[in-house]
Parts: sequence; structure tokens; C-alpha cells
Amino acid sequence: MAKIENVRGTKDLIGQEAILYEKIANIAADIFKTYGYLPIQTPIIEFSELFQRTLGDFSDVVNKEMYSFTDRGGENITLRPEFTASIIRAFISNGLHHKLPLRVYSHGPVFRYERPQKGRQRQFNQINVEALGVKSAKFDAEIIAMAFNFLEKLGLANNIKLHLNSLGCNESRKKFIIELTKYYKSHEHNLSPDSKKRLIKNPLRILDSKEENDKLINKNAPKLCDYYLDESTAFFTEVKNCLDDLGIKYFIDDNLVRGLDYYCHTIFEFVTNDLGAQGTVLGGGRYDGLSEVLSGPETPSIGFAAGLERLMLLMHNQNFLLRPNVVIPIGNSSLIEQKINKICHELRKNNIIIINEYDLSFNKRIKHANKINAKYGFFLGEDELVNNIIKVKDFDSGKEKTIKFDNLINEFESIKNEFSR
Ligand code: HAM
Repeated sequence: MAKIENVRGTKDLIGQEAILYEKIANIAADIFKTYGYLPIQTPIIEFSELFQRTLGDFSDVVNKEMYSFTDRGGENITLRPEFTASIIRAFISNGLHHKLPLRVYSHGPVFRYERPQKGRQRQFNQINVEALGVKSAKFDAEIIAMAFNFLEKLGLANNIKLHLNSLGCNESRKKFIIELTKYYKSHEHNLSPDSKKRLIKNPLRILDSKEENDKLINKNAPKLCDYYLDESTAFFTEVKNCLDDLGIKYFIDDNLVRGLDYYCHTIFEFVTNDLGAQGTVLGGGRYDGLSEVLSGPETPSIGFAAGLERLMLLMHNQNFLLRPNVVIPIGNSSLIEQKINKICHELRKNNIIIINEYDLSFNKRIKHANKINAKYGFFLGEDELVNNIIKVKDFDSGKEKTIKFDNLINEFESIKNEFSR
């Protein structure tokens, strides 16, 4: 019988990779909590209509990327392609408008039927943040600063650049799109095939085309900022001023438009050059009208999401690896074995990782310690047993020391410091 492989565009996260995932999610949660965000969990399945109504009929996601099916009860269901729509739906379904402003974060799998490549999967994970019921430009700067803090904590501050733009209000954007369409129509013969399609469905997206010819045409395209109303200009200026006050550097990117329809005013992306074509590690923006699209109350909001797999690709050479420790009995008396079990129990009660490979001989245990990149070895033989001590070895430096069993935890902590000096 043929082997069953994983579905194209999906990935198993095993061992240290899964540890890195957990680390990133934990760092995110710790930072977001300091800004007053609380966790939220929404279902992975939603009615397809939720995404059709919110992300835009002409967005790539709705047009060609949704994992949709009819369930056994005849309902049209979609595996979430992002979190924002689900969170607004949850806000409305649970009647949370009395709790505004609401700050929430989550992480988990999302699904998009895209062409898989480095940094692009069909099932991937996002860390997602939303602030609902926030009107002032100061919130925009705060959430962008929070995103930056998060990426900085992951050690990525030097790999990323913040692209910032404003889409203005819906009214001015509509006027802009009419002018933009006229401009592209006059250059239609030179546009890439994808942009020709976009000209009919979503001309704004031509602005962020990566095709060389399109880029040339974009150089002289009308500029969104020339169409802002005064309020939008003032709002965006305040966002920029607040970022300046916080010392957060940004690059105004006139061609940044984002791929989902619900955005207005501030939009932003943190982009890296280290991942080839899939360089956006985190993106977001304001979506003031989204709640009304779902028949909810007026709720100005802003949020962002980061792709966990992209972050992990950038962090592959960073030292977040979990190092286990091992116990190694010298000899095989049952008294030694009993004592070893006690040591393991005591260490684990104190959150110290310790692996006991019961069935292996001394030599095989040493080999195994090497294979799993163990940090410390706890050795116990007849001498140690009689004297109520344990020998601890730092596998990196080769240094060894004996510690008293009765003061195991304290002495272990202090020799760790000694070894690292
Ligand atoms: P998005 O730009 O579609 O925004 O996705 C956010 C991030 O998810 C991207 O910057 C990227 O890191 C990651 N990502 C997207 N597609 C893939 C893929 N196929 N494979 C791997 N990673 C991917 C949103 O989803 C919005 N909901 C963000 C938001 C929240 N806006 C406001 N609130």
C-alpha cells in the first residue's frame, strides 16, 4: 500500500521546532499582556459568509484561497483564513460592546490555498492581536510599538523594516480608485497579466505588484495621499508623531495597500529581506467599518497578525533551544537505581529537566546524552551513594563537581553559575 504523506503546504512541527513555536507564542503573550491584552479563542470553522462579507469578494483570499466545504447538515463552512473577521463576529455574537475597549490576542492555525514555497504554507500559524473600540491615533502608534517590541524581543529588530501608509477614509479612497483605474487603463497593454485581472477586480492591489513592468508604471501613478481629507492627514500625522516620540523608525510606503478589503487609515507591515519573496512577517491596520459590515455597532478598531512560520525561519540560528539534562548511574545495583529515581523526582519538582533512559547501559547513556545535546549529567555510583553525594558534569566545558544530595537544588544552582564563569 502507498505511504500517506502530509497534505501539500502543511508541515509537522517536531521537538525543538515545536519548542521554538511555543517560545514565540509565550514571548508574544507576555508582551501583549503588559499592554492590557487578554487571550481569546474562537473556532477554526466559521460560516463561509463571514469571510465573504468581510475580506472582500475580490480579495485573493476569498477569490481563490479559502478552504470551504458543505458540512453534513448542508451548511457552508470555511476553515478560517485569518482571525480578524472571527474576532469581530465573536465580539458581536457575545454582545461584548459593553466591554469596549477590548484588547485581545490569539495564536493558532489558519488556512489559505496558496502555492506553497519558502515562507508560504497552506496551513500556517498566526499570532494575532486586535484592539476593538479604539478611535484615537495614539492607539495606532501604541499597537505598532507593541508589534515592534515583540519582534525586538525575538531578536529581529535588525532584520526588519516598518512600512507605513494610510489608506485614508473610504470616501477619499473611492475617488482615488476611480483616478487610479483611469491611469492604469491608459497603460493597460504594459501591465502584467495578473495586474490586468486586478484592474477589473481590485486596482489598488496593482500598487504593490512585484512585477518589474508594473513597478515602472506605478512610479507615475496617482498618489493616495493627494486624496486624503484633512482629518485623515491630521490623523496620520498624529500616528507618525507618536511613533517619532517613541523612537520607532518607519518608512512611508505609498504603494502599501494590504490584501484584505476591510482596512482604512493606518496600515503597516514589518518586512524582511531575508526570506525572499515572502518578506512580510507581520502586517495589520485599522478597520473601522468592519463591525457594521457584520451588522454590529460602530466599533473603530486596529490589529495585526504575524506568521509564526516566517518568524521561525528568521530565528532558525538563534539560541532558543531547550537543553535537557541526564542522569547516569555507574553500575547497576538496585540501591543506585532507587537513589537515581529520587534525584530525578526532586529535580523535576523544581522544574529542572532531567531524562532517565532506564534501559540503556552506561556507554549508551553517554552516547545518548551527546545525541540529544544534553547540558548537565548527574552521575551516581557506589562512592557517591555511600557519601550521599552526586557528581555533576557540564558537558560543554567538561567541568565536574560533586554536590550534596541533601542540598541538591541549591548546590546545583550555584555550580551552574560557577561552571559558566
Ligand atoms: P495578512 O497580511 O493576510 O493579514 O497575514 C498576516 C501575516 O500572516 C503575514 O504577514 C505573514 O507573515 C503570514 N502569512 C500570510 N499568509 C501566509 C502563508 N500562506 N504562509 C505563511 N505565512 C503567511 C491578516 O491576516 C490580517 N488578519 C491581519 C490583521 C489583524 N489586520 C488587522 N488585524
